[in-house]
Amino acid sequence: MLLSLLSDLHGYVPSPTAQAIVDKADAVCICGDIQSRAMHTFAWINSLKKPVVLVPGNHDWFLYDPAGASTNWGFKPHVRVLIDSGCELDGVRFWGTPWSPIFFDWAFMLPPEGLREKYAKIPEGIDVLLTHSPPRIPRSRIDMVEGRRDHCGSAELAEAVLRARPRHLFCGHIHTGSHAPVRLGSTLCRNVSYLDEQYAPAFLPATLEV
Ligand SMILES: [Fe+2]
Repeated sequence: MLLSLLSDLHGYVPSPTAQAIVDKADAVCICGDIQSRAMHTFAWINSLKKPVVLVPGNHDWFLYDPAGASTNWGFKPHVRVLIDSGCELDGVRFWGTPWSPIFFDWAFMLPPEGLREKYAKIPEGIDVLLTHSPPRIPRSRIDMVEGRRDHCGSAELAEAVLRARPRHLFCGHIHTGSHAPVRLGSTLCRNVSYLDEQYAPAFLPATLEV
């Protein structure tokens, strides 16, 4: 199965070049920050004629329900929203978790002990882990804003990844974090944000054959 993966569309729909990559894939994965500046991404996701697996991001208030009771957000049946939950497509096991470290007052943010609790639910044996926050990986810039030197990713997520050993992790959130794949234990991690820090399209979707 060929996956197309991207994150942080913030209301945009993919450019024709990006859409061509999505069109070739069997399924699409989105790592959060769907809306926030416009409503076009939601409609685009619903219009896709293939399975979509997504996790919310900190801008996705419309998916935020601290009690965890909401399950119907207006997505069509081909869209699976993963909030500390998993799904399987053609034998490929997915898990998704939307939580990020606290940064001002946004959706799906928790202090370290809360993150630890959510990430503890990530099971072993996952092929594709979708997160909004990047993990904090020493000597990697996957979670660094361009031109800065401080890590913004989650150390708690990194600990959970080292425990659960998913084959792949995809994330967004830190738009200009390095998009190069980086290894964390046995897991290949990749930032797939579509926009840059100015919320302008800057990257193309990643692809993965699983
Ligand atoms: Fe974002």
